[in-house]
Amino acid sequence: MSHYKKSLALGCLLAGLFYAVCLAAGGEGSVMSRIRQATERQDPHKQVTAPIPVPKHIVRTTEDYQGGAFYTLTRKGEISRFKCSSCHTGTKVTITNAAAMSHADIKVSHGPKGNPLSCNTCHSQEDRNLLVSAADPKIDFDHVYNMCGQCHFRQKKDWIGGAHGKRVTYWAGKRVVNNCTTCHDPHAPRFEKRWPATYSAPLK
Ligand code: HEC
Ligand code: HEC
Ligand code: HEC
Ligand code: HEC
Repeated sequence: MSHYKKSLALGCLLAGLFYAVCLAAGGEGSVMSRIRQATERQDPHKQVTAPIPVPKHIVRTTEDYQGGAFYTLTRKGEISRFKCSSCHTGTKVTITNAAAMSHADIKVSHGPKGNPLSCNTCHSQEDRNLLVSAADPKIDFDHVYNMCGQCHFRQKKDWIGGAHGKRVTYWAGKRVVNNCTTCHDPHAPRFEKRWPATYSAPLK
């Protein structure tokens, strides 16, 4: 066979192969048609709807769980003094006791006994609208779990997995969980021990 004939034969062989692959990919009962069938839109009448509506104010967390996205309740809308920058403009305050006047209601009871955490361990000094951790100087209040998680990494891990902090929506649809500060007051996060509101009358 001449050199020319050899390459013509090879060309025909390749073209034939290509045609066969195209047939397999597009034809009846082909891989592509089976994929198409499998990914067909579900019948909406057969779908389970979420038992409770997904809350409006949620944010996608910065971490996924087992490859899946999950969401948490936002916080900024719940903080009465937000935006902090409406007062914290960077202008020097010359009034004595200004902090006590504006934030006297905040008593920190959080951290080692007798040595509570300082405001600036959690709040950014550069921008009061933000929280801080050793690793991240700019944490949005909505992602507060990342701030708490630098110290309470075990609880954060449990929270991501669903073992700490409750779900807001049930198992169908979007996974939405409470944020750390939905439950815990960051300035005094411990829940005091208490008796149940109602209890059985003592036995005689
Ligand atoms: C109504 C005005 C006002 C608002 C709103 C406000 N602050 Fe302040 N804050 C002050 C004043 C005044 C001071 C005392 C002067 C200073 O340190 O800048 C202060 C001080 C502070 C301090 C230092 C306290 C200390 O003991 O040194 C922190 C931390 C702080 N504010 C956090 C916040 C955060 C976080 C927000 C928003 C969630 C906020 N503030 C919103 C007025 C305000
Ligand atoms: C353990 C971290 C931590 C410490 C310590 C801390 N804060 Fe906060 N603070 C937070 C977080 C988180 C929020 C937002 C809470 C939320 O999501 O409702 C907050 C909220 C606030 C607010 C807004 C409260 C409101 O409802 O308007 C002010 C003001 C504030 N902090 C000031 C202070 C001051 C002043 C100190 C020190 C005396 C302090 N914080 C210490 C974490 C902390
Ligand atoms: C800088 C480290 C640090 C950060 C940030 C921090 N904590 Fe703490 N937290 C502590 C320390 C230290 C204790 C005291 C632990 C102890 O006494 O065993 C504590 C105690 C607690 C407790 C009480 C534990 C108990 O049963 O006595 C809770 C609840 C808690 N933190 C929640 C939070 C939440 C929620 C956040 C975020 C808003 C947060 N913490 C941020 C260090 C931190
Ligand atoms: C649904 C409400 C809820 C949410 C959300 C929540 N917690 Fe808790 N947390 C609790 C309760 C309830 C306890 C147990 C208090 C007790 O035993 O007295 C607790 C206990 C803790 C403790 C004490 C140690 C322990 O494990 O018992 C820490 C620290 C803590 N939480 C941190 C966090 C952090 C960090 C987040 C966010 C990543 C978070 N929590 C989210 C309700 C919540």
